[in-house]
Amino acid sequence: MSKFPPRVFSGIKPSGDLHLGNYLGAIRRFVPLQKTHACIYCVVDLHAITVWQDPEDLKRGTYEIAAAYLAAGVDPKEHIIFNQSQVVEHAELAWMFNCVVRMGWMQRMTQYKDKAGKNTQNVSLGLFAYPSLMAADILLYQTTHVPVGDDQKQHLELTRDIAQKFNNDFAGSISKNNLPAEFFPIIEPVITGPATRILSLKDGAKKMSKSEQSSAATIYMLDDADAIAKKIKKAKSDADALPSEVAGLEGRLEAGNLVGIYAALADISKQDVLNEFGGKGFGTFKPALADLAVAHLAPIAENMRRYLAEPDEIETILKDGANRARTIAQKTMKDVREIIGFVQ
Ligand code: TRP
Repeated sequence: MSKFPPRVFSGIKPSGDLHLGNYLGAIRRFVPLQKTHACIYCVVDLHAITVWQDPEDLKRGTYEIAAAYLAAGVDPKEHIIFNQSQVVEHAELAWMFNCVVRMGWMQRMTQYKDKAGKNTQNVSLGLFAYPSLMAADILLYQTTHVPVGDDQKQHLELTRDIAQKFNNDFAGSISKNNLPAEFFPIIEPVITGPATRILSLKDGAKKMSKSEQSSAATIYMLDDADAIAKKIKKAKSDADALPSEVAGLEGRLEAGNLVGIYAALADISKQDVLNEFGGKGFGTFKPALADLAVAHLAPIAENMRRYLAEPDEIETILKDGANRARTIAQKTMKDVREIIGFVQ
């Protein structure tokens, strides 16, 4: 297993405004991994277009995600930040994986089922094939670790299945080419911490999402201090005091969500939060959470705005990142073409 050097890949789609769920579930966790892993953080624009995107919005969203990575503390020199469409190998490997993956595996994907709903005849073919592209993103770099939110777990399991099937289907050719039998690594999902699933501030049955209609339900990364505080104070909660044990949050979705947000921002456990606030009501807890959120998020938003004012600088970073990513990707694809039997 350990023959693959520790490498991290993760990505966020530029389809709507970045929010607290993206920050706590992903971006926040990207930063410390830089100490122990070679990291590749991608703006997955090819994934975004699986549903219609206005071209101007797509561009704006791409700059915004790059700015968020930078503002949160990703180092684009030591590590790699780029947008997916600049490295065409993603699309190429995704095609090959489309020919490895089975229809039945794809039809089980809950994200596809949720997004397509009753509309299965009218969504794009790309939306259905989305998980193959995601597997390609990850395996192109022979990534070992993938930090994501809880909702991506099934896609990562599929990525493991695709890697395994490829390694098996082509075992003979892999060995003939003197390549390691485990050509694609069997990745480890990194789904950890108190905030792998951030919920809507208005409805604990839904996750916080880019497509949420009510902006009061979502804290956006570019919200100013006032907006952040207001949304937290108006967040749905309940009439009871906070429990002193985590088990007491069971069935209290909104309360559990707010405690999780506090824990993630303060980098402590939910139990630590309850040690401090157990027995207190939301009249005490919400203002404390609002202060913490503002102290943490407002400087990042300010930093993002500074980057967004310099789009040329962002473009240079993305291009440089793409060039370095492509070098790794091309090497993988050369081997993949050889393994499959393409003349080159
Ligand atoms: N599907 C992921 C999401 O919706 C985004 C994504 C695309 C991704 N490719 C990836 C995440 C590769 C991790 C690794 O959040």
